[in-house]
Amino acid sequence: MKIVPKHRATGSAAVPAVSNLLKGVNDLKKLPVRVKVRFDGSAVYVPENLMDKFVVRGGNPLLGNIRVSGAKNAALPAMAAAILTDEPVVLENIPDVRDIQTERNLLVSMGAEVELGYGKAHHRTTICCRDLVNPEAAYELVKTMRASTLVLGPLVARMGRARVSLPGGCAIGARPIDLHIKGLEQLGATIRQEHGYIEASAERLRGGHIVFDKITVTGTEDLMMAAALAQGETLMENCAREPEVADLAALLNKMGARIEGAGTATIRIKGVTKLSGARHRIIPDRIEAGTFVIAAALTGGDLTVTNCDPSHLSALLQKLQECGVTVSVQRDSVRIKNGHRLKAAGMSTEEYPGFPTDMQAQYMTLATQAEGTSVITENIFENRFMHAQELVRMGANIKVEGSRAIVRGHTPLSGAAVQCSDLRASASLVIAALVAEGETILDRVYHIDRGYERIEEKLKGANAQIRRIGEILPKRAQVPAGVA
Ligand code: UD1
Repeated sequence: MKIVPKHRATGSAAVPAVSNLLKGVNDLKKLPVRVKVRFDGSAVYVPENLMDKFVVRGGNPLLGNIRVSGAKNAALPAMAAAILTDEPVVLENIPDVRDIQTERNLLVSMGAEVELGYGKAHHRTTICCRDLVNPEAAYELVKTMRASTLVLGPLVARMGRARVSLPGGCAIGARPIDLHIKGLEQLGATIRQEHGYIEASAERLRGGHIVFDKITVTGTEDLMMAAALAQGETLMENCAREPEVADLAALLNKMGARIEGAGTATIRIKGVTKLSGARHRIIPDRIEAGTFVIAAALTGGDLTVTNCDPSHLSALLQKLQECGVTVSVQRDSVRIKNGHRLKAAGMSTEEYPGFPTDMQAQYMTLATQAEGTSVITENIFENRFMHAQELVRMGANIKVEGSRAIVRGHTPLSGAAVQCSDLRASASLVIAALVAEGETILDRVYHIDRGYERIEEKLKGANAQIRRIGEILPKRAQVPAGVA
């Protein structure tokens, strides 16, 4: 399937005018929107799966195998890296999740050609940014996915200008992009802020010395991409050491960049004048893997999580061993076995290689079932305990004090209607539901669909009782004349 620019990005505000949208049924099928015809005959557009819920019946241990998809957080910068060249970039192991669709739409809205693989190759995507016409990331896209700001650096580097919406607030904290902006200024870009947008321009970026005040993952990635095409050498210090940063550098080096040290705190980049196309396989998703690992430990299961990189899971696996879980590690899989009671263990989130903030919510669910009290400290984001309240509604005993949550464990959970508030919070509720007594209904599962590929199917394949239910639509109404 080929997405062509005339269909621009999707999402509520970016949906094309009704008449354009309905020009052909086949065109419609290419868009992740559902056309809903109301009783009065008018049509509305609902992003696909927006209204879906999960119904989960707890009590089954996870058994067997679950295969991990490609890392969303590695795929997003890799897709943005395609902006740096006029040749095709072929990316494999791209997860089929909503954030990836959003990024595809963003690239398409700029004039990129994005080709999706079929059948067995459906995790492959080819991006060609030969004719970029519109170096802009609009608010409608940035607000649904903050990682859209990853296009800022590549756009200025390749096109000499970029217009990217400021992300604004989000469920888990302020998440500013001041460090991206400061870094681009160090590389010689002129930055203006107007009408909620950052406008950056530069004839050609030049190498510079960037010392990050605070460790930022996408900030490191954004500036690494910008510096790859800058004139001269860039030295970046206090960089994020996440595996996703190293994976992006591996892709950029295949494209002809000269980057050393990615994956450590100091990165050196010798700028080149041109980058070429490349083929690259995205690393496995360590957060998805970790979520299944915790779910297995929690449900007292015997599960092998396959197609992952256990070396990326060290902090989590160590913590689980402290909790009394039996962990056995193979080259690309982890087997989790837990036949006995979990023991409480405190945890603090840290930058990689520390315990990831993206696993904090899932770990909190585990702590609710461990014997003893666990103190969980969130050091990366200031408002990342949204799941705590929902877990309390299911029977957990959690007290939040600033950046600390005190979890008194081993309280039985019971099924309830709960709301997903952000991606990882939602995952923590799904796994809580797996051990809750009775039925849990999770609303707003579109948050989960942002970053987990068919999580309900994967869990179902491992003995869980979970199903997705869609919105109950009115009986198929008469399609207005000229629409079909
Ligand atoms: C990335 C991940 C996200 C993860 C987070 C931390 C992607 C697409 N997302 O998000 O899943 O939870 O890392 O591991 O990879 N900060 C500033 N100024 C900036 C940038 C960041 O103050 O310019 C602060 C943030 O508010 C936060 C901290 O730095 O407190 C870390 O944020 P950052 O690493 O940038 O997170 P993201 O890259 O957005």
